[in-house]
Amino acid sequence: MPLFITFEGGEGSGKSSQARALYRRLDKLAVPVLLTHEPGVTKLGKSLTRLIKWAKDTKFSPVAELLLFNTSRAQLVAEIIKPALDEGKVVICDRYFDSTTAYQGYGRGLDLKVVAAANETGSLGLKPKLTVLLDIPVEDGLARKKGNKDRFEQENLAFHRRVREGYIKLAKAEPRRWLVVDSRQSKAKIAQIIWQRVSQLLSKV
Ligand code: TMP
Repeated sequence: MPLFITFEGGEGSGKSSQARALYRRLDKLAVPVLLTHEPGVTKLGKSLTRLIKWAKDTKFSPVAELLLFNTSRAQLVAEIIKPALDEGKVVICDRYFDSTTAYQGYGRGLDLKVVAAANETGSLGLKPKLTVLLDIPVEDGLARKKGNKDRFEQENLAFHRRVREGYIKLAKAEPRRWLVVDSRQSKAKIAQIIWQRVSQLLSKV
């Protein structure tokens, strides 16, 4: 039965490792499952991601950023996510349109109505049934990041705090869709909390 689950969080929140853990668990149980992520994955998405995350000589306007993420998303939904859901798979996506609301809306300060309209178009109207937010204080998350920093990781603390607050507001506005998990707990504990919710959902579909 198709089920669309997304993972969200700020830098260093551990969402990617939890998305992978959930994928492995479902796969072991022989549940048809696909793990994907944003931005990137498709050929178009990969080119756009290189540009959006790593361009050094371009100062993106916030609206350009909004549209580029949504361009990448439209391709991913059409090429990968919708076909997998049509085949009855559980689809786990590491970041989705809530990242755009948090980063381009709250972080960059774009009008939230403009962001919502772009997201509606870019996602082809496809909304997740469950969104897991791995919440972590901004300083702790950034401290976990190693290696080269991309354009977003280089943003100041105030930007990342707005992103975090944005996520918390989004989760409060739609409590039935969101599961908020404190990311400072052990990986095993977090995985257990997520599994509890996912297994409930699977028993209903
Ligand atoms: P990540 O793959 O390491 O999470 O990097 C993606 C970066 O892009 C991350 O800093 C969040 C940012 N981002 C946005 O600003 N808006 C979006 O819509 C998405 C999907 C990601």
